[in-house]
Amino acid sequence: MDGPVAVTGAGGRLGRALLESLGGRAGPGIGWSRPGFDLDDPTSGERLLERDRPRVVIHAAAWTDVDGCARDPELAHKRNGAAVGALARACAARAASLVLISTNEVFDGQLRGRGYREDDAAAPINAYGASKLAGETAAREAFRAAGVGGVGDAVGAGDADGAGGAQGGAALWIIRTAWLFGPPGADFPARILAAANRLPPGALLPGVIDEVGSPTLSSDLADAIVSLLATAPPGIYHLVNGGMASRYAWAERVLARFRGGRPGLQAVSRSQFQRASEPPAWAVLDASLAASLGIHLRDWEAAFDAYAVGSGASEQ
Ligand SMILES: NC(=O)c1ccc[n+]([C@@H]2O[C@H](COP(=O)([O-])OP(=O)(O)OC[C@H]3O[C@@H](n4cnc5c(N)ncnc54)[C@H](OP(=O)(O)O)[C@@H]3O)[C@@H](O)[C@H]2O)c1
Repeated sequence: MDGPVAVTGAGGRLGRALLESLGGRAGPGIGWSRPGFDLDDPTSGERLLERDRPRVVIHAAAWTDVDGCARDPELAHKRNGAAVGALARACAARAASLVLISTNEVFDGQLRGRGYREDDAAAPINAYGASKLAGETAAREAFRAAGVGGVGDAVGAGDADGAGGAQGGAALWIIRTAWLFGPPGADFPARILAAANRLPPGALLPGVIDEVGSPTLSSDLADAIVSLLATAPPGIYHLVNGGMASRYAWAERVLARFRGGRPGLQAVSRSQFQRASEPPAWAVLDASLAASLGIHLRDWEAAFDAYAVGSGASEQ
């Protein structure tokens, strides 16, 4: 099938990186954002599909305010669950493939010692994770009901029609990632630097020691998604930079790079941070399925160093 690749949430961290990656490698990318594409208007995707006739829609838009989702789980479900179902049905009806971006927060974070694999059981512990899992389920049901290629019950490399991207027909990919950083807006490094700048002289910055994840550079993820679409069968994939870090270790790296290691950090636990949403303690994803297909992301430290060279997250 011919046609462009459309990206929802085009102004967001991942959406913007995806449009850049697509630009050079996969033909034209079209950005869909508000007001034309609106998660609060379930028919907006249908209208844009009719207008632009993309062969693939990468759905990066979501209500990503995890604390907001905790305060209003119903709205979270509408935006991250039901709206995905509507988009998936519209895609399947027009034989357009869908790439749904999902999250480590579909897992409960109780695992230790290895990253979550694609076939580990999802069991979200907060409203954001539950709403994103509802989106995964709705997309799978839509593609299954339409009888076109998608993610089977046995997850992992897909069960659908034809490996090697969408050329075999409409298909569904679900890509889970974690702890994104990169422009625009206040990502974790920028927030750490802003907090460091507000601190009185001599004070220590709290760093959470018992929350561990896979920091992932949005442009690395975008490149990996574009490569995956060109080569891998439909299915569920975990895509993150290599390695893992606690929030403490990541903050330490940020401060070392931008502030000569000052201020120092004080190790605190998650329970000392009051917030509406409880994050999973273990947010590490295992990306070896994608790596086995040749899609390999560098370690997060290398990604962070590359980002730091040209970053706006300097001394703010
Ligand atoms: N950030 C992370 O650490 C992380 C981790 C795991 C998975 N993810 C997933 O990765 C994807 C991309 O995340 P991101 O970090 O790029 O998020 P982001 O920077 O917050 O961008 C989200 C995008 O969604 C759009 N959006 C929000 N509410 C909308 C609505 N009601 N209607 C239409 N568009 C709406 C936003 O549009 P505006 O620009 O108009 O606000 C924005 O472009 C999401 O699916 C997210 O769940 C993110």
